[in-house]
Amino acid sequence: MEQDVLILGIESSCDETAASVVKNGREVLSNVISSQIDIHTLYGGVVPEIASRKHVERVNYVIGQALEEAGVTLQDITAISVTYGPGLVGALLVGVGAAKAIAYAAGKPLIAVHHIEGHIAANYIEHADLKPPFLCLVVSGGHTHLVQVQDYTKFDIIGCTHDDAAGEAFDKVARAIGLGYPGGPKIDKLAKEGNPEAIAFPRAKVDGSAYDFSFSGVKSAVLNYLNGCEMKGIEVNKADVAASFQQAVVDVLVERGIRAAKSLGEDRIAVAGGVASNSALRAAMQEGCKKAGLELCYPSPIFCTDNAAMIAVQGYYEYMAGNRAGLDLNAVPNLKIGTDKYTQIAQ
Ligand code: KG4
Ligand code: ZN
Repeated sequence: MEQDVLILGIESSCDETAASVVKNGREVLSNVISSQIDIHTLYGGVVPEIASRKHVERVNYVIGQALEEAGVTLQDITAISVTYGPGLVGALLVGVGAAKAIAYAAGKPLIAVHHIEGHIAANYIEHADLKPPFLCLVVSGGHTHLVQVQDYTKFDIIGCTHDDAAGEAFDKVARAIGLGYPGGPKIDKLAKEGNPEAIAFPRAKVDGSAYDFSFSGVKSAVLNYLNGCEMKGIEVNKADVAASFQQAVVDVLVERGIRAAKSLGEDRIAVAGGVASNSALRAAMQEGCKKAGLELCYPSPIFCTDNAAMIAVQGYYEYMAGNRAGLDLNAVPNLKIGTDKYTQIAQ
């Protein structure tokens, strides 16, 4: 009988300290997330120095919890996978340092995982039949990409944002209408009370590429609208602003995603990243895919935002592909997707 492969995943790229144990790449045995949202909310966004310190305080506890909830010990674990980029360098270093120490002490292989490739892999958790190739729309706080997932460890970017990421636009607009951090979930909630057609915000097209995005225009349009109202003494209907802004972003994401899938001959599309938990995006994608005859999948909200289960899942596929990191693994804050894998065998 083949032995189970148990991966301990560690994630600390931004403001969540997370650890998880995943069996055979698909079965989540534990998923522990310690969020720092409360403290960063005081400052209206993530403060990198505070994020690093909080990761240091919590990382060992979170890893211990993940092992305990999975009912396993470190000796049962096959390999340790960790996010090594992209993200905040000080934050990444905490997870990378912890993973290297554990891998060395326990004599286990170390696997380096790209954070965005992890977001994509979150789709495997609840879709047992999902296998590459497929198209993935990645929408997070720092990235907006259309990615062709050629294989579990092979990715081609076919479209990306030229300026703000979708999540970044959500966060900036939320701040402008006084909703605070993190903006995405708050806009999602408030938009339910507003009219998405109340204000015609622009749907930007990017010259020269059918699959690229731009969200700084819609963000500026919202800021101009708010300034205009203030100067004219008009009371702003925040729910209408939230709903109309959200609709403008969703329309572009759905249109580009479906167009890309159809012209590339894909029959299914996956959505990943924090913004993939947006209720309007999920509903519009569902409707658009149904019309276009495309299969759609997205993770549950808990696996859309930052978590370590997705890092363990991608870690499993890296492990199976023979990719190993050495103990010289470093954090790479601006790591590109599809980067050549670390192949150096741990000493
Ligand atoms: O993937 P993620 O957790 O972290 C990054 O890798 O960036 O994404 C965080 C982003 C934030 O910008 C947050 O506002 C956005 O995802 N987000 C949402 C929702 N939940 C999180 N945006 C829109 N609607 C949501 N429900
Ligand atoms: Zn993320």
